[in-house]
Amino acid sequence: MIKQNIPTHIAIIMDGNGRWAKEQGLKRTAGHEKGASVVRDITTHCGNIGVKYLTLYAFSTENWNRPKLEVEFLMRLLEKYLKSELDVYLKNDVRFETIGDISKFSKSLQKTIANVKEKTAHCKSLTQVLALNYGSRDEIIRAINKGIKDGITNFTEDSLNSYLDTSSIPDVDMLIRTSGEIRLSNYLLWQCAYSEMFFTQTYWPEFTPNELDDLISDFQKRERRFGGI
Ligand code: FPP
Repeated sequence: MIKQNIPTHIAIIMDGNGRWAKEQGLKRTAGHEKGASVVRDITTHCGNIGVKYLTLYAFSTENWNRPKLEVEFLMRLLEKYLKSELDVYLKNDVRFETIGDISKFSKSLQKTIANVKEKTAHCKSLTQVLALNYGSRDEIIRAINKGIKDGITNFTEDSLNSYLDTSSIPDVDMLIRTSGEIRLSNYLLWQCAYSEMFFTQTYWPEFTPNELDDLISDFQKRERRFGGI
């Protein structure tokens, strides 16, 4: 990996927690717990190498369909993670943001999210964006409805963009999905229009900063033409 041409925005679909746990003879929830520690390592690493935005798919609009106990576990894990992470964000100058409709979360979790956003608002090295109750189609529909409420009848790419949850975040340069699945699963469909895509067999709990560096090296070798020649 070279220090020039580091992607500005990396988005990751963190997949394979459950399969990793099963292969270790553990409960699925142990996979999510290990996954949370990988979130910390990868975030710190991205800050160190000069990535400016890291967007992580932590809970999709479809994840509510999982067994109730697993959903509850993920909610508790998220709250625990955010509370313990505040000091780490501040120490590493990481700003915390979210995309997705968090109004469906408990009041307590919403409060924790708001608090971490507020306390890290001044941080400048890296913005870590968690996609929470996020689905791309849901985001686009919410954006259109907000625009209509404001009296917009004829959207342009720029005006629609300004109503998306990602309005202040640049398009995705590099999209990574772990665990061998090759699909986008309703993630950042608009924002990935020209992103370079990377699919690795590694389960998320085993994903490392070294592997990320290798993928960034591949990214740096690709020629991006954005529809030109
Ligand atoms: C996919 O694995 C992962 C998720 C649905 C949630 C992602 C959550 C984490 C990485 C941990 C918590 C995150 C934070 C920020 C604290 P899967 O369960 O779909 O795995 P499988 O496909 O092998 O079953």
